[in-house]
Amino acid sequence: MKKFLGVQDIGDLKQAVKEAFEVKKNRFAWDRMGKNKTLLMIFFNSSLRTRLSTQKAAMNLGMNVMVLDVKQGAWNLETERGVVMDGDKAEHLLEAIPVMASYCDVIGVRSFAKYESKADDYEEKILMQFIQYSGKPVFSMESATCHPLQAFADLITIEEYKKQERPKVVLTWAPHPRALPQAVPNSFAQWMNATDYEFVITHPEGYELAPQFAGNARVEYNQDKALEGAHFVYAKNWAAYADPNYGKILSKDLSWTIDDKKMSLTDNGYFMHCLPVRRNMIVTDSVIESPQSLVIPEAANREISAQVVLKRFLQTI
Ligand code: CP
Repeated sequence: MKKFLGVQDIGDLKQAVKEAFEVKKNRFAWDRMGKNKTLLMIFFNSSLRTRLSTQKAAMNLGMNVMVLDVKQGAWNLETERGVVMDGDKAEHLLEAIPVMASYCDVIGVRSFAKYESKADDYEEKILMQFIQYSGKPVFSMESATCHPLQAFADLITIEEYKKQERPKVVLTWAPHPRALPQAVPNSFAQWMNATDYEFVITHPEGYELAPQFAGNARVEYNQDKALEGAHFVYAKNWAAYADPNYGKILSKDLSWTIDDKKMSLTDNGYFMHCLPVRRNMIVTDSVIESPQSLVIPEAANREISAQVVLKRFLQTI
């Protein structure tokens, strides 16, 4: 594997899940595979889970790990060509990428959508420059449009907890005070569409996801109807994708918050969220603390999804 940006890069999903379960059984079985190999994780945005789980996964494989927080301690980076660099940005990404690449074997990048230009965000301008100019395997630690390590961990979690061969999985929009990226719902939709699950997306009108990610999923604007009989409820906020409202908040309607009444519509369904989560906006205290909440095992599986991806890189470098 040379890059990991989406479900298309992981190959056969059943095989990937099987590998994840093998890793989970004994995560230290490949602890020599990464000897003298270095992972560089570059964060343009904050993280708790991605940072720790990916570092842990690399350590399980015996890798060395370096972490760069671009906004804390590094030079402020210019990302556009042709700019007269007379402002606060001291270094250009086009020099910084090959320099950073010379110190490592695998690169993880976190770079969120800026919501200044839909074209720039959906072209993945920063991530693509790392792929083009580093000469090293690159993986997304959440980019402008996708969060594949999260979606892979979500899939592993559903496979662990499902009681039906073909569960009903519902992705529901929920309210949030700030405009959040579409990366998590995009990836979740992309990965769910690659399974044979019954997959439904529900959100207020105006929050349609990009068609390349929503795919052929059923879109149901009535949240209660969508939740009927669900086995897994995946809540997430995202800002609008469709023009002219790209990146805007269209609703903060608290009637979309996942509470006990909403969960009672499901078939004793599990609650999922990628975290961090705003309690009593996205989900009530009662639901997230209930035995049906999978948020902690889901986050724990981030170590497993990262380890499968890093292991595959190590097998090819
Ligand atoms: N879910 C997730 O990616 O969490 P962090 O933003 O804390 O890494």
